[in-house]
Amino acid sequence: MTTNEIRFDDGAAYERYMGVWSQFAGKSFLEWLAPQPAKQWLDIGCGNGAFTEMLVESCSPSTIDGIDPSEAQLAYARTRPFLSAALFQQGDAMSLPYADNSFDIAVMPLVIFFVPDPAKGVAEMVRVVRSGGIVTAYAWDLLGGGFPYDVLRTELISRGVNVPSPPSPNAGNRQVLQELWLQAGLQDIETYEIVVQRTFSDFDDYWSTVLGAPSLGAQLAAMPVDELVGFKEVIRSRLTIDAMGRVVCSGRANGVRGRVG
Ligand SMILES: C[S@@+](CC[C@H](N)C(=O)[O-])C[C@H]1O[C@@H](n2cnc3c(N)ncnc32)[C@H](O)[C@@H]1O
Repeated sequence: MTTNEIRFDDGAAYERYMGVWSQFAGKSFLEWLAPQPAKQWLDIGCGNGAFTEMLVESCSPSTIDGIDPSEAQLAYARTRPFLSAALFQQGDAMSLPYADNSFDIAVMPLVIFFVPDPAKGVAEMVRVVRSGGIVTAYAWDLLGGGFPYDVLRTELISRGVNVPSPPSPNAGNRQVLQELWLQAGLQDIETYEIVVQRTFSDFDDYWSTVLGAPSLGAQLAAMPVDELVGFKEVIRSRLTIDAMGRVVCSGRANGVRGRVG
C-alpha cells in the first residue's frame, strides 16, 4: 500500500523501524489516557498491530477492531498471538465501514498525518463513537523536528533528494490537533507531549534499521556506493553516539483527546 509514495508493504521491516518507537510512544500515551477497562475500541491505521498489541496488554478492552488500508500490515497484525481476538479489516480513516455509535474509544496512533483530509478522519471517529466516548490520537511532530529519524530525513532533503512526505505533515502539531478536535465539536479537549528515546546497539544497527523505512529506505538503497560512504559519515557525525558506541535517538509526538458530547 502506498501513501504518497510511502509504502507500508512490509510488516516485519516496519516493526523494527517504527513498531519499536510506536510501542515506546504508545506506552506514554496510554499512561496519560488512562482508559477504563472493558471498553469497545477502534484502532484506526492499526498497521502491523504494534500499538494494538499494547492496547490489549494494558487496557483490557472488551472488543477491539483495527482498520488499515495496507493488507501487508494487517497480515502481520493477524500473526500476533495477543491479537487473536481482534477484528481487522482493510479500510480508510475517511470512510469508516462501521455504523454510528459503535465504539467507546477511537484512536489514531501515528496516523493522522497520513490522512489526506484529517478533519474528515476526525469527523468519522466522532460518528462511530458513542456519546460520552473518547476520540483520541497521537502523532509525531514532524515539522517541529519530532520525527525520530529527523536527522536522516533533513539531511536527505538538504541534498535535494525527493523524500516522500505524508499528505498532512502539519497534523502532528499540537495546536493543529487541538483545532481539529475543537472543530469536530469534541469536549473536554486535552493535549499531551510525548518524548521518547531509543538506543541502537551501534551505527550498523541504526543503519540496517533505517533501510527498512517506508519513506526513506528506497532512497538510501538507490544511492550510488561512493556517495553512500560519505553520506553515512555525515549521518554518523550528526547522531548522538555514547561512549559504548550506541546510537541514542529521541522522538517527540503530541497526543490529543476529547469527549463526544
Ligand atoms: C506510521 S504507521 C502507524 C501504524 C500503527 N498505528 C502504529 O502505531 O504502529 C501509519 C499507518 O497508517 C496507515 N494509513 C495510511 N493512510 C491511511 C488512511 N487514509 N486511513 C487509515 N490508515 C492509513 C498506513 O497503512 C500505516 O499502517
